[in-house]
Amino acid sequence: MTVRITPSILNADFADMGREVGRIESADGVHIDVMDNHFVPNLTMGVPMVEALRKVSDLPFDAHLMIEDPDVWAPGYVDAGAQTVTFHLEAAKAPIRLAREIRSRGGRAAVALKPATPVEQIADFLDEFDQVLLMTVEPGFGGQSFLDCVLPKIRRTRELIDRTGKDIWLQVDGGVSPRTIARAAQAGADTFVAGSAVYRAEAPDEAVQRLRNLATRATA
Ligand code: DX5
Ligand code: ZN
Repeated sequence: MTVRITPSILNADFADMGREVGRIESADGVHIDVMDNHFVPNLTMGVPMVEALRKVSDLPFDAHLMIEDPDVWAPGYVDAGAQTVTFHLEAAKAPIRLAREIRSRGGRAAVALKPATPVEQIADFLDEFDQVLLMTVEPGFGGQSFLDCVLPKIRRTRELIDRTGKDIWLQVDGGVSPRTIARAAQAGADTFVAGSAVYRAEAPDEAVQRLRNLATRATA
């Protein structure tokens, strides 16, 4: 299994984002948490940040949209320079149409599920997506504790993905750290968001490498 580490810049220094994305050279991508203060009780960044960072980083971007009305706003993130655009199933009015719109603009389409949303809701149209994001905390804030109660859903999602025979990435987000990443990897996740575990470390890039080693070892 290919392990990918996609650090979240939510815990990076907002006064110096250009430099911050440069501190994770071995990452497989940058996870950009977009919050609108409606879908979640927090407000972060949007299209202008994606466009600005696109100019200073060659890493793939993965925009995690914790916003209402993704049907309206998500496609614009492909145009802004995000390789993967992730919208929440709970917020989308027409998830299949939206996934197709993201793909038609050249993006990878990803769907995110909050901890209490069953994966069975997307089982019949899983192949509309290039990635499934399972939240392992309630979305809204960095630095929360990993929810072990999501582990059975990670296992069920892995089974559903394997049954499609398609290369669909299974990403987990929230509370991923050296203490929790092995559990998530053993359950079947292959793509890991880590915010505080990377950006609160003294050497963020070493933290990325350590997380990748732990996940790789856990699934070897
Ligand atoms: C939470 C965000 C996560 C979060 C991860 O709503 O989607 O990406 O920033 O931060 P940690 O790794 O600190 O839980
Ligand atoms: Zn996120």
